[in-house]
Amino acid sequence: DGLVVAVDGPSGSGKSSVSRAVARALGLAYLDTGAMYRAATLWCVRQGVALDDAPAVTAAVRALPLEQGLDPEAPTVLLDGDDVTAAIRTTEVSAAVSAVATNLDARAALGDRQRAVIAAERTGGWSGGRGVVAEGRDITTAIAPDAPVRVLLTASEGARLRRRSLEVHGTADAAAVAATHDQVVRRDAQDSTVVEFRTAADGVVTVDSSDLSFEETVDALLAVVRA
Ligand code: CDP
Repeated sequence: DGLVVAVDGPSGSGKSSVSRAVARALGLAYLDTGAMYRAATLWCVRQGVALDDAPAVTAAVRALPLEQGLDPEAPTVLLDGDDVTAAIRTTEVSAAVSAVATNLDARAALGDRQRAVIAAERTGGWSGGRGVVAEGRDITTAIAPDAPVRVLLTASEGARLRRRSLEVHGTADAAAVAATHDQVVRRDAQDSTVVEFRTAADGVVTVDSSDLSFEETVDALLAVVRA
């Protein structure tokens, strides 16, 4: 049976880039569950579904025409055949995504798809049965609580704001960090009303990346996998 590595963490913890690198190093598939929430949000916007209409959001998410690439070298996201890999990263989508993330029926629909991908990669799928690194907010707790490797990737608020500010604005000066603050802190506060990703559940290993470089963080995760 293939390996399942579950990684959760808040915005700016580095979980996406680090999880991708770990998948690449181990020859595993890479499942970005945040990309699914983002694609679902963009789909609602494009279909004219009001994000505050919970039943309509649920219906749209259940019928989501999503094709998600699992290759860590190129995790492309197609929505109804349209490449939305870049479009799901805009600040508009980031600002709206909590409407899907806090909708429990929509979460259940996306969770079913995530479990199906993980099950497929354990025996075949893109990885040919080598397994998958799945990353998000509730993978260690709700989606793959029985994964043999479960990691909570944390970082101080200062470190997370600096990283996200560099990503989005290309600088971490005071104005850019202030502009990022609302996005990161408010979104995490909204998200944490439905999923607990700030403290590690029983059996989940915490890796704090505040004072680690990217390479050091990847190495820390690989060490957990090999332990
Ligand atoms: O930008 P960031 O790395 O913080 O987030 P992401 O991993 O791209 O996820 C985007 C959003 O999807 C999060 O803010 C959550 O609202 C939601 N999400 C979730 O609720 N559960 C997951 N397993 C993954 C993402």
